[in-house]
Amino acid sequence: MKRVFARELEFGVVDQGQGSPLLFVHGFPLSHAMWNAQIPVFAADHRVIAPDLRGFGDSVDTDGVVSMEDFADDLAAILDFLNVREPVVLCGLSMGGYIALQFVRKYRQRLRGLVLCDTRASADVPEVVENRMKVARLVIESGTQPVAEAMLPKAFGPKTYAERPEVVEAVRAMMIASDPTGVAAASRGMATRPDMTGLLSTIDVPTLVIVGADDVLTPVDEMRRMAEAIPGAEFRIIPEAGHVTPLENPLGFNAVLAEFLEGMRDER
Ligand code: MLT
Repeated sequence: MKRVFARELEFGVVDQGQGSPLLFVHGFPLSHAMWNAQIPVFAADHRVIAPDLRGFGDSVDTDGVVSMEDFADDLAAILDFLNVREPVVLCGLSMGGYIALQFVRKYRQRLRGLVLCDTRASADVPEVVENRMKVARLVIESGTQPVAEAMLPKAFGPKTYAERPEVVEAVRAMMIASDPTGVAAASRGMATRPDMTGLLSTIDVPTLVIVGADDVLTPVDEMRRMAEAIPGAEFRIIPEAGHVTPLENPLGFNAVLAEFLEGMRDER
């Protein structure tokens, strides 16, 4: 991993391969490692950039409130540090998708394409906001383990949960390794994120929307509506996957992403 210094913070960032840049943005409370089944595959013909967001993985800890806009600003600064001037394809999952929408809003000129995975554009309803504030308190008081145990059963499709303990363990390890103050700050940031539904109809880069068939956190119907609101967006449902689609069904996910990237190459 490279050490990246940006916005007076220090980040751990995978920067691998050469070619058109592909930026992977992880979900909550995970790390770049959630893309481990994508990084070597796509680095064969892309420059793959996969940061640990602040407060997660190998990046600096942070406290207070980190908004989705703050994370998007971090991404732009990381690209600057790495001297990535070419527009990127940004692929974000869940919280990574919330961040991606802020990136679209502020840095449209730096985007060549967009991949929104298991995410949503709407803001949280009051019950969810309350729960996020509870998570922020719990993680400070008791650490990341109880938060991980509460999140894990909803994160996967039934097949992954029953038959692939190594995937569940990998996600548990990422969750537990996150910094409690960073998890709390991101949880508060998600709670206060704005409704971005109005942005969807203005997105004018090639867009792919991906959802796991068994995702209960950002369900298929909601993701389909999101895709329908984005002009020309492609929509793909990945079988045998819940919310953490790239880890649960990497072959299915990679095939769909590769096809999308190939289509973009043809259009050039
Ligand atoms: C994620 O995977 O990033 C989370 O499910 C996001 C959220 O809690 O809304």
